[in-house]
Amino acid sequence: MLIREANRSHEHEVIEIMNQAIMDRKNAYLEIFNAENGRQWYDSLRAKAIKFCVCVIDNRIVGWGSLTSYRENRGALSGNVEITFYVHNDNKKQGIGTLIIKYLEEVALRLNKTHVVAILLDDNEASQILLTKKGYKTLGHFESIATFPNKTLGHLYMWKKLRGHES
Ligand SMILES: CC(C)(COP(=O)(O)OP(=O)(O)OC[C@H]1O[C@@H](n2cnc3c(N)ncnc32)[C@H](O)[C@@H]1OP(=O)(O)O)[C@@H](O)C(=O)NCCC(=O)NCCS
Repeated sequence: MLIREANRSHEHEVIEIMNQAIMDRKNAYLEIFNAENGRQWYDSLRAKAIKFCVCVIDNRIVGWGSLTSYRENRGALSGNVEITFYVHNDNKKQGIGTLIIKYLEEVALRLNKTHVVAILLDDNEASQILLTKKGYKTLGHFESIATFPNKTLGHLYMWKKLRGHES
């Protein structure tokens, strides 16, 4: 299992993983990406990400993750980063999500970031359990802010203070 920087050649596989999650209602996108808006989303993430990585097994992308600014350009908040991670449906429960989080936290530490936040829908049990295991705490719950055709969900903000930063 290898972690690599995401590049143009990874676009289709990353979007496929993203579309699986959209179909499973694991994020707030209502429609899956087509080739055109998928490329826009991918390019925009590549442009803004502090780190955008893929996890590769046997030349296949099995997961991806990113670190992006939390509230970009606000200097007082620049020690905070948002973490995002997705695993291919065929490769869940194999430790890949754990590996991506570990890698991205190491990157954040190297960049002297102090806090990491994951923002997720409040029915996302798998992520909640995984993040809790990794030391994240739910510090924000915005109830009933995400409206889907057949349900309304909230947003959880799960934070972790990184090692070595005490204030
Ligand atoms: C959440 C997600 C990343 C987990 O990835 P994963 O590679 O399957 O996770 P891991 O194998 O590293 O699991 C580590 C632990 O998390 C917990 N966990 C993972 N999936 C779980 C599930 N479906 N139900 C309950 N607990 C789960 C377990 O405690 C697991 O440990 P165990 O295997 O010893 O039981 C994956 O389900 C996913 O891609 N979900 C959709 C995208 C998403 O929700 N992203 C988060 C928003 S940023």
